Amino acid sequence: MAVEQTLSIIKPDATRRNLTGAISARLEEAGLRIVGQKRIRLSREQAEAFYDVHKERPFYDSLCDFMTSGPVVVQVLEAENAVALNREVMGATNPADAAPRTIRADFAESLEANSVHGSDSPDNAAIEVAFFFSDGEIVG
Ligand code: CMP
Repeated sequence: MAVEQTLSIIKPDATRRNLTGAISARLEEAGLRIVGQKRIRLSREQAEAFYDVHKERPFYDSLCDFMTSGPVVVQVLEAENAVALNREVMGATNPADAAPRTIRADFAESLEANSVHGSDSPDNAAIEVAFFFSDGEIVG
């Protein structure tokens, strides 16, 4: 199986509660290598562009408000099968549905404040990684 990269975002609810290290440890323990990382505050324009696919959804404005409400940590994760592996470690989008011992089951506050984002396909991972990182910022 090929080595893949995926984009992870540690969301404002998690950075606010000082969970960056605890969440990163879960990723690393699962075999995901953090090969790019930065702590940033998303602008409204960045949040709207990143979540453009959800523009017509009723939660879009609230999601953009939330994602700009505090710092996020954007990460490039690398492993064999990284996209699926990261989604397994994160758990379901709604923490009420997330499997035990997943990041969202253990840390998420709500469907919106669900602590982490992860790319949902290799194609989207490439787009999302390029949204935040230039080649020189990813060091394997
Ligand atoms: P994320 O993986 O970042 O992708 C879109 C985000 O929208 C999702 O996680 C949730 O945080 C948020 N969201 C809020 N309401 C909903 C909803 N009803 N269905 C899906 N995602 C939602």
